[in-house]
This record gives sequence, C-alpha cells and structure tokens, in this order.
Amino acid sequence: MRDLYLDDPVRLRETDSSDMLGAIYGLPDQLPAALAYTRTQGVRLGTEGLLQIVITGLGGSAAGGDLLRGYAAAACKVPIFVNRQYELPAFVGPATCVIAVSYSGNTEETLAAYEEARARGAQTVVITGGGELLRRAERDSVPHVVVPTGLQPRAALGYLFVPALLLLADSGLIPEVDEELSETVEVLHRLRGLLAPDTPTAHNPAKQIACHLHGKIPVIHSTAGLTEAAAYRWKTQINENANSPAYAHVYPELNHNEIVGFDVPGAALELIRVITLRARDLHPRIGKRIEITTQELLGPCNGVEVRAEGESPLAQLFSLLYVGEYLSAYLGLSYGIDPTPVQKIEQLKRRLAEG
Ligand code: F6R
Repeated sequence: MRDLYLDDPVRLRETDSSDMLGAIYGLPDQLPAALAYTRTQGVRLGTEGLLQIVITGLGGSAAGGDLLRGYAAAACKVPIFVNRQYELPAFVGPATCVIAVSYSGNTEETLAAYEEARARGAQTVVITGGGELLRRAERDSVPHVVVPTGLQPRAALGYLFVPALLLLADSGLIPEVDEELSETVEVLHRLRGLLAPDTPTAHNPAKQIACHLHGKIPVIHSTAGLTEAAAYRWKTQINENANSPAYAHVYPELNHNEIVGFDVPGAALELIRVITLRARDLHPRIGKRIEITTQELLGPCNGVEVRAEGESPLAQLFSLLYVGEYLSAYLGLSYGIDPTPVQKIEQLKRRLAEG
C-alpha cells in the first residue's frame, strides 16, 4: 500500500491544524451530551392534527434531517421531508411542523424558510447554535433547542441530529429511541478505536479506503432507505474534508440508469472508484442486485464494500457514517489538505452578502 503519511502523527497534526480528526473522535460523545441538553431544554412537538414534518436546513445542518428521514420514515406516523432551499413546499401550513436547523444561525436560505413557515401558520421549532435564527426564535417565542458551538457545522452532526430525533420520539411520533442511542454510542466507541489516527493503516479500514481512493473520484453506492443518508454524508464529507468531487447513488434505482454509464470508452473510468455501503437484513433481491452489480457490471471501478456494525438500525446507520467521517479527513490529509476550511463556501457567502 502507498505511504501517504497517514501513519506519521507529526505530519497529520501539522496538516490538520484545526483538529478535524479531534472533532471526528468526539462525535460519539455528542450523542449523550445532546440527549441531556435536549431533554433539559424541554422542547416538545404538538402532535394534534399534525400531518407532516419538514426539516429545513442546508449542508451540515441538513444532514441530521437526512439521517432522521432515513432512520424514522418507516416508523413515523407522519411523513418526513427534508427541505434545502429558500421556499417551502406548497403543502406546508398549520398542520405541518417545520424544524429549522442552522448551526451558525445565519444561513439565508434557512432564515427565509423559517419566515415562510411562520407566515403559513406552521408549528415551528428551531435547532441552532445562535446567530440570527436564535434571535428570531426568541423574538417570536418559537420553541428552540440551543446546541454547543465552536465546531464546523458538519462536525456538529450529533448535536444537531439528536434534538430532532428526540422531538419525534418524545412526542410519540416514533417509538422511543434511548436504547438504540445507547447501542449506537457503544458501537461508535468501539469503532473509533479502530479508525482513529493511532491505529496504523495496516489495521485501520478508514486509512485503507483513503489510500484506495487517493487520486480517484469516489462514487458511493448504498440502498434506498436507511443507508442512503450515510452515503450522501460520505459524498458531502469527501467534498468538504478532502476538497474532492464525489457522488452518491442508491440501489435499486442505480440499476436502472447509472450502471450503463460504466461502459464509457476512454480513460474516464480509470478515475472512478465505487464504494458500496451495506446494512444488515437487506431485501434479498437488493442483496442479489449488489452482488451482480459489483461482481459483473462495475468492472475495474468496483472498489470495496463497507458493512454496517451493530444490531439496531440507528447503530448501523451511524457505524457506516462514522467510517466516512474518518475516511474523508484521511483522504484530505493524504493530499496534504487541511480538512477543516471550506474556503469556497465562505467565498460564496461573502459574495452573496455584497448584495
Ligand atoms: C460547513 C458546512 C456547511 C454548512 C452550510 C450551512 O462545515 O458543513 O455545509 O453547514 O453552509 O450553514 P449552517 O449549518 O451554519 O446553517
């Protein structure tokens, strides 16, 4: 395996100057912390007459919404939608609960959606670290959960996801989640021993996948439903932590279009590597589809398969996601890139602020 300095602690520390690896290490601990402050802050959803839930946010603040939809949709008494734009869907009204999520509290699309939710008479709840969104929630007496600040929004996933999860569970919209959360924390603690920087590449699956993807364009395949959110998170984390393009698609839909693309002539395919994320207890026909696709249809683009750990759906979802958190940072570091800064996002926000 190529030496990409992933086992050189001095070089890792120097390049990772804002300590993204430290933030990733801390993710498992965000879950119990978030459980405690959400319950202390005591925000509740009203469920009478409730017909839909919409989580509105962007980027790292929308990721918790994706996880919630992937995890809870099958059990939730009302449909869950994730909205990533200024406007809300036309169905939003007094029978909708809109959960507006922004870590900074200053994301303009989320602020616009928040105002629209209020204007349409929707039940509105805010999850934020502060900023303008918190100011408006206080002004409007809108129930809000305040989360700890000081991280990049994408590194605060546990802080942002757990409050939304508990809003649903504690109001009876989904079965209670405390046991699954405990198992998830246990699985993540176990996993981080394996994935953290101290574990050398020879024994560290995240470093090994980083070596495998170095110089390639990652394409992440998963299955519709539970693991879809993990695959999309891999894609966005590779974008932001490794400054690399990456794409995600799901079974069975990808069997009806994307696989044909793996026949393009020329050198393009040499650049692509497919990683397949797999939960337990797949629909048997999906298992068969993965087998045929990876063994017969992806050709040299077929990469590695990552299997979920743990028993409960939540633990499985987070176990897949956690490998991607480490992998994306290692991939960035293998390029000599500091995983934390997101200069292009900031440049764009600055330009938009000019009017
Ligand atoms: C940066 C990041 C971005 C932000 C997004 C929205 O780490 O992940 O995707 O999450 O620009 O900003 P917030 O989360 O503050 O609403």
